[in-house]
Amino acid sequence: MSGTHEKILIIGAGGQIGVELAESLSKIYGSSNVVASDIKESPALANNPFEKLDALDGKALFDVVKKHQITQVYHLAAMLSATGEQNPMFAWKLNMESLFHVLDLAKEKHIKQIYWPSSIAVFGPTTPTENTPQYTVMEPSTIYGISKQAGERWCEWYFKKFGVDVRSIRYPGLIGWKGAPGGGTTDYAVHIFYEALKNGTYECFLSENTTLPMMCMEDAIRATIELMHAPIDKINIRGSYNLAGLSFDPKQISDEIKKHIPNFKITYKPDFRQQIADSWPKSIDDREARQHWGWKEKYNLELLVSSMLSNLKTKV
Ligand code: SER
Repeated sequence: MSGTHEKILIIGAGGQIGVELAESLSKIYGSSNVVASDIKESPALANNPFEKLDALDGKALFDVVKKHQITQVYHLAAMLSATGEQNPMFAWKLNMESLFHVLDLAKEKHIKQIYWPSSIAVFGPTTPTENTPQYTVMEPSTIYGISKQAGERWCEWYFKKFGVDVRSIRYPGLIGWKGAPGGGTTDYAVHIFYEALKNGTYECFLSENTTLPMMCMEDAIRATIELMHAPIDKINIRGSYNLAGLSFDPKQISDEIKKHIPNFKITYKPDFRQQIADSWPKSIDDREARQHWGWKEKYNLELLVSSMLSNLKTKV
């Protein structure tokens, strides 16, 4: 559904994914056609029209959609796994109610297409951990995971009942240098680069052999846009697609960093996030994404680490 007539709204545009998505979508559609919104302004979004928007305010969202004649919404606002456990009721409210506002806009034909991210957090301790398949046991143990799993079911339901063109990816941990991560269990894999460059040391909140599925942000953004541009008949999953990039543990990423910064030291002090990480898959089987709309990752660990370090060097 790509085209020159699209007007895009990103909700939660100031977050880790949003700032990068705004930049990439602006290159395709022109920055004036990509409206960024968030509860607070962000200098990273200075090139786009900006609307201050609380994702829970359905009326304000409707007004923004009408004002800019929005055709597509990328709804990224959410409370993630670690912060969600600190504030469970609000995490549930934010993650669910904001999704309903967006789904209803499409149901009522005010917008044509929706992107909404899900996560590996939909899986839980009873899920097979190696090459976790698309269809498997799902008993998520965080409020974030429960909200994403429920959201997936709602997306599919809106598609089946009302023909809402909503598309979704179960992101693994995302690693990028442009936006700051916000309260996830996989955030260590971003923090580690800042600390390695600034101080040469990092105290990791997960244990050294905690393997998790991860992905370079550039791959995640490309996957997102490829999914949104795929012909409608290729999208056979309306819950959310498994998506794999690479898998590593804190020791493996620190060993790779040491190839660039030989004196880098990592120590381990697992906290409550360890239990969350232990409930998630180690690797993901994403054959459906590959078969249906041609997904293929670009970044391996070597490439990810060298790109993060060279880009952050100028920033830090
Ligand atoms: N990166 C997210 C988190 O750790 C998972 O989707 O919460």
